[in-house]
Amino acid sequence: MNPFHYGAVVSGADFYDRKDEADRIAETLLGGNNIVLYAPRRFGKTSLVFKIIEMLEKQKFICIYFDFMSIYSLESFVKLYSYALSKKQSNLKKFVQDLASSIKNIRPVLSFNASGEPEFGVNFAGPGDTIDEAMISQLLDMSEVLFDKKRVFIFFDEFQDCVKINDINFENLLRSKIQHHKYTNYLFFGSKTHILNDMFNNKKRAFYNSALPMSIGPLPEKETIAYLQKKFSAHSITINSGMAKYIITTAGDIPHYIQLLASEVWQYMVNEKNTVTTDIIDYCVQRVLASNKDYHIELFDRQSNSKKQLLQALSQSGKNIFSINYIKTYRLSSASAIQKAVKELIEDNIIEKINNEYFIADPFFKLFVINSYHPVTFN
Ligand SMILES: Nc1ncnc2c1ncn2[C@@H]1O[C@H](COP(=O)(O)OP(=O)(O)OP(=O)(O)O)[C@@H](O)[C@H]1O
Ligand SMILES: [Mg+2]
Repeated sequence: MNPFHYGAVVSGADFYDRKDEADRIAETLLGGNNIVLYAPRRFGKTSLVFKIIEMLEKQKFICIYFDFMSIYSLESFVKLYSYALSKKQSNLKKFVQDLASSIKNIRPVLSFNASGEPEFGVNFAGPGDTIDEAMISQLLDMSEVLFDKKRVFIFFDEFQDCVKINDINFENLLRSKIQHHKYTNYLFFGSKTHILNDMFNNKKRAFYNSALPMSIGPLPEKETIAYLQKKFSAHSITINSGMAKYIITTAGDIPHYIQLLASEVWQYMVNEKNTVTTDIIDYCVQRVLASNKDYHIELFDRQSNSKKQLLQALSQSGKNIFSINYIKTYRLSSASAIQKAVKELIEDNIIEKINNEYFIADPFFKLFVINSYHPVTFN
């Protein structure tokens, strides 16, 4: 079995480091604060949150993980949020009663699955079943009443997607609710940093200044090298620290892509069981590029000329991109054209920004852009 995993939450032996971040976040939540956690895409936010949940649950705190990605309406929110609450109940029958008595018009139901286990659900079959702000408001208060005054931590993943619920102003309602919660604290996070940023830093938005900002960066190089060496050597493959470092930099120092490239290298080498070399890594990079070729071509073709030019410039450097020098070096048209292109590329999640430096989010798409600029052929 390939020891490298990507594309889903990692835990147990597949999860390394992040101890300081996990401790800091857990302590801040325990201190009664709400947090907004920022990090670019695929840096390991969800995996870190699962680690924090594991830590807090060991201390017997109630933790609820809720992903807004699949929420598109009030109905889906009511169903899935109450389901998430039901998962933390030892007595589902009592939970159904509590819900029915606390929330006007809700119709919770308990059924039994094929193995005879009770299953919780919410019914919206009746013609008069309407979901209004009052119902959502009561539902959001349930974490305060269901758990006998125990501390509750709610982790809202892909939180920026809550704006998709536009039947009511969900953002305003949630903000007004959480400020009165005594036993519940929240951690907000998601993969669209620019939208989260606006939600929490724009004075006109409901969540302005309502949570402590925290962020995570790449995983530390030393630990990543040690992790790669350990995983490869368990399969009798040797990789020296220089080669491990080469994987890290080629993958843009982004946890997801490090695992992806390492997985490709492992797959290629598994039957040969010898030493990782630059040629092998380069060859594996080409394999990743080849399997993404159609997608990359389509993505690049879809961009306007000024965005294509900017992507080519960003594949070389992402510093001081509005300066005259940058515009001249990369033969771009004007600072205002760059501004427009940057805005659109960020909205489409194609580029990201850390500390005033811009970069192409997917390091393999970056390589595609470099290669399409200076085509190279590989055997
Ligand atoms: N601490 C870690 N140890 C090992 N691998 C990690 C770690 N954190 C992240 N990864 C790698 O990165 C991948 C993405 O992790 P995760 O889904 O947690 O990131 P994310 O920031 O939530 O991503 P997204 O922005 O897409 O929501 C994982 O599948 C794994 O390959
Ligand atoms: Mg995630």
